[in-house]
Amino acid sequence: MKFIENFQPQLTIASPGRINLIGEHTDYNLGYVLPTAIANKIVFKLAKNNSKSQCNVYSVGYEGFSFDLNAVCKSASEWENYVLGVLSEILKLTNKVEGFDCIIESNLPLGAGLSSSAAMECGMAFGLNELFDLGLSKNTIVALSQRAEHNYVGTQCGIMDQFASVMSKEGHVILLDCKSLDYRHIPLDLQPYKIIMMNTKVSHNLATSAYNTRKRECEEGLTIIKTKWPKINSLRDVTLDMIEDAKDKLTQTVYNRCCYIINENNRVLEMAKALSEKKLKTVGKLLYEAHKGLSERYEVSCVESDFLVDFSKNYDGVLGARQVGGGFGGCVLHIVHENIATKYKQDCIEAYKKKFNLDLEVFEVKPTGGTHII
Ligand code: GLA
Repeated sequence: MKFIENFQPQLTIASPGRINLIGEHTDYNLGYVLPTAIANKIVFKLAKNNSKSQCNVYSVGYEGFSFDLNAVCKSASEWENYVLGVLSEILKLTNKVEGFDCIIESNLPLGAGLSSSAAMECGMAFGLNELFDLGLSKNTIVALSQRAEHNYVGTQCGIMDQFASVMSKEGHVILLDCKSLDYRHIPLDLQPYKIIMMNTKVSHNLATSAYNTRKRECEEGLTIIKTKWPKINSLRDVTLDMIEDAKDKLTQTVYNRCCYIINENNRVLEMAKALSEKKLKTVGKLLYEAHKGLSERYEVSCVESDFLVDFSKNYDGVLGARQVGGGFGGCVLHIVHENIATKYKQDCIEAYKKKFNLDLEVFEVKPTGGTHII
């Protein structure tokens, strides 16, 4: 693309990926989550190009593409839809955007459960907001980025990823209530333990049907619960007793999904308490329970993630482990004592290679701040 040669960015934005300590698939059930941004990020370099409506976007490692602001529509290429979806939502809110050039560069693994999609959407929205002085609040950036994912990418995702990407604070996790959007930053002090992520390299694709199917199954459960308790509007307000009461009207699958969500919601609140009291054993126990739920009741794990979690259970110095994100692979989070971290990583890499003939990608993460100007 021609503009790349002498490109002089006016603005550079860092948009981070995220981990989620606990609270998986609870966001679209309007429950609680406990995520934080991490240092792995997508960087956007942006400049106005003095045209009224011509936009050029180039992503290092991908092709570039151009579009006209007067003709924004879905593309056959998935990554282009992250950009176009955000533009489509922003253009509904303002007419202040004009032609721009953008170079995107990422060190955030794609499809690894670290929310590269939200990082793309929020970084683009945040950057355009700054470049054209659109006056959008952070909450608006989060919400429009989520709508971009729904309308252009096709995943009926909850609010967690976009919220974490924009609102995170260094050294903290966010306890977010996905119903009210009230949130609280909680210090994440796991000393002497570290958070080690292991990318299974088994790729999931959230746009495929499995994620949306889980959401529909939860809605099916809710519809049945509502026949007896009409005032309930989300699984977040359903108790295990209510599910037991309705059990004979639910399919086994829907029953399992609902039980998982209710238990997982409770685990988020228990985790927040355990962190503030620094009860690290409880932190680890909750992670293992969450993974068991993801694997057996919600059925979004895979043999590779289960293997890593099981491997960790026999290893002294590992507090807990579980798969993070939408599921079906991606990354497994481990909380590991600093004294054994190096050996543990090496042993996992070897065991995983032997079992699956795949190269595990291993890296440490720390809670960092949300989307910002560099
Ligand atoms: C994906 C979605 C989120 C959330 C997680 C599972 O990352 O984008 O909204 O539902 O899966 O917790």
